Amino acid sequence: MRQPYVAGNWKMYKTVAEAVSLATELADGLKHSRNKLMVAPPFTALSAVGAALTGSGILLGAQNMAAELEGAHTGEISVRMLKDLGVRVVIIGHSERRHVYHESDELINQKVRLALTEGMEVILCVGETLDEREAGEVERVVGTQLQAGLSGVELGSLEQVTIAYEPVWAIGTGKTATPADADAVHQYIRRWFSETYGSDTALSMIVQYGGSVKPGNIAALMNMENIDGALVGGASLKAETFLPISRFND
Ligand code: PGA
Repeated sequence: MRQPYVAGNWKMYKTVAEAVSLATELADGLKHSRNKLMVAPPFTALSAVGAALTGSGILLGAQNMAAELEGAHTGEISVRMLKDLGVRVVIIGHSERRHVYHESDELINQKVRLALTEGMEVILCVGETLDEREAGEVERVVGTQLQAGLSGVELGSLEQVTIAYEPVWAIGTGKTATPADADAVHQYIRRWFSETYGSDTALSMIVQYGGSVKPGNIAALMNMENIDGALVGGASLKAETFLPISRFND
């Protein structure tokens, strides 16, 4: 059985006080959840949010990390700095990192391997643009991102890895992939794992869907056979929307 996993990506929103206030509401509201839960505040609020989440069972996540352990990298944040703040999970390869900040598959792979070596859990994001979808290239694009992103990752480390399928055209646009369209790509992702790592691994991999997930569409998405959770952006910024998403199966 794959445990449902709902994660909130707060992106570049919230001051420390705003972040703590939301984290406190979530910690109160999600105490007895059966689901795996994570929130990824901006770096500046990690420490305070970590304190607010203590004892709640909600994991503290980061939205990105440096590809190097340390060094002269102005403006970067290292995996050990994150661990030092109690961060357990890092989102790598988000489409905004890929498309706005031009992160390559090679860089993403370097980050994935470093995070895993350092004992961090990873959410590796994959997904096609609208042009790629219209050109019939979804599987090629997603397959390439998986192949490159997980290059050199051993079977034994995959327990630390979650995949988030996030079609770029659905992120922050209000357009959600239909549950059936999303499930078809999730099924492809599971097939890729089966061919690359074996069928047991494929069955145990958690594959989240991301892209305009809301209280009104989470149940239909989670009803699909290959959708195991959600990576939520906009709707994770308020307790009134993130609580019902996180409690979709209560
Ligand atoms: P969205 O973002 O829920 O606002 O579409 C999802 C994401 O970027 O992870």
